[in-house]
Amino acid sequence: MADPAIVAAPAIVAAPADPATTAGSLHSRAARVLEGNWTGTSTVPSRGLYPHQWSWDSAFIAIGLRHLSPLRAQTELETLLDAQWGDGRVPHIVFNPSVPLDAYFPSPDFWRSSTAGRAAGAPRTVQTSGIVQPPVHALAAWLVHRADPGLSRARGFLPRVYPRLAAWHRYLLHRRDLGGGGLASVVHPWEQGMDNSPCWDAPLARVTPAPARSFRRADLDHGAPEDRPTDLDYGRYVRLATDYRDGGYADGTGDFAVEDPAFNALLIASEHALARIAHELGAPGTARHARAERLTAALVERLWDPAEGLFFCRDVRGGGLIPERGVSGLIPLLLPALPRDVTGALVGTASGPHFGLGGPARLVPSYDLTGESFDPHRYWRGPAWFNTAWLVERGLRLHGERARADALREDFLSTADTSGFAEYVDPYTGDACGAGDFSWTAALTLDLLHEPVGQAVTPVGIGTFDMGDKGNKVDKVDMRDRGEDRG
Ligand code: SER
Repeated sequence: MADPAIVAAPAIVAAPADPATTAGSLHSRAARVLEGNWTGTSTVPSRGLYPHQWSWDSAFIAIGLRHLSPLRAQTELETLLDAQWGDGRVPHIVFNPSVPLDAYFPSPDFWRSSTAGRAAGAPRTVQTSGIVQPPVHALAAWLVHRADPGLSRARGFLPRVYPRLAAWHRYLLHRRDLGGGGLASVVHPWEQGMDNSPCWDAPLARVTPAPARSFRRADLDHGAPEDRPTDLDYGRYVRLATDYRDGGYADGTGDFAVEDPAFNALLIASEHALARIAHELGAPGTARHARAERLTAALVERLWDPAEGLFFCRDVRGGGLIPERGVSGLIPLLLPALPRDVTGALVGTASGPHFGLGGPARLVPSYDLTGESFDPHRYWRGPAWFNTAWLVERGLRLHGERARADALREDFLSTADTSGFAEYVDPYTGDACGAGDFSWTAALTLDLLHEPVGQAVTPVGIGTFDMGDKGNKVDKVDMRDRGEDRG
């Protein structure tokens, strides 16, 4: 059934923001991908491989969808947040009950959220996974609000989502501070989203894999085996998820706990967004800005390696930084309060031999081009992904690296086009890998098409969201936590 908000906005769908390119057809095709993947209340990442609602996918999708239908973008986030658990966690998958159980693994009968998750407050009426994904949601909510503030206010969008987003951040900052230094830990590689990144190899090596015959992978029905994680990886994923479930999804005791730079950078960016939302709702928001700044300092203190010019993951159980260069280590570039020397070093690392930005690589590879474990096709062990390219593009633009940002934007749009909105691509050839017609690829294509280019003052994307009209300068904040955002 057609969404009235989309029908009511044909001019946006038909008329791209950047008529100087062939973007007209690219814009229409991206819009068609999102239309085809819309279920009525949310958007599947891809029809075959991922037939339910995924948490961080939905946040990126909403960021693009706001240009087509702000109503649909609001609904996308509301549907996800309706599945939030009582302890504040936002599950990484919300299952669609009309999809057959064997269409995706692990299915609802594996997670058993409504029974195994009862003590953690899992909802009774909807089935979900029990783990989380990166907290891009407050950032998405703020951007969605700004796309149509009138509609947002009329629907009470921000007053409804704000308490849920605040509870989500509270869960991460309190229940998931497993390292004791203020940052959130992930307890499963699926939580960080870059499932089989070589960054996880060392901490995962301690996990005894579940026997391969004890489960049946559904992903191989849709994706080429050489593009996907291995059976050994899956054995370990299943073991970790089983143990977490069997412990009632209580936090703090599992074998795997890692502080990841991208996960925490997205939490910090979203904390800045929550400050903006609080301000919009009549609270000063200063305590949240202050917290975001403190978290930025903790990120630098705990995960920054000045000699390497990169952020690294910290193995909370094994005690140290994990010496693998992943794209995750570049994502903090999107933080407005990052020290200038860190920003400069990150840009240098992105442009150097390990990531090849603006040189041999397409987009930004997910893993060190020179690394021993580099594989140009296997999921997060080398391929370039569009969501991480979008985040790096936003970061470059925020910090005034306009030429690099413009080049990455162009590369993004042409690669999305030629790859058929691929899930990810070979970082040397741009050849499509994984699923096609991938929702976040289409959504973020739309977002970049709507970014005005070539102006004397380039809008700073994420910087715009958290700095309002104050440019790139960080607000002076009162460092006392006034508790305005509690409750
Ligand atoms: N990315 C995982 C998968 O491939 C789950 O979140 O299924």
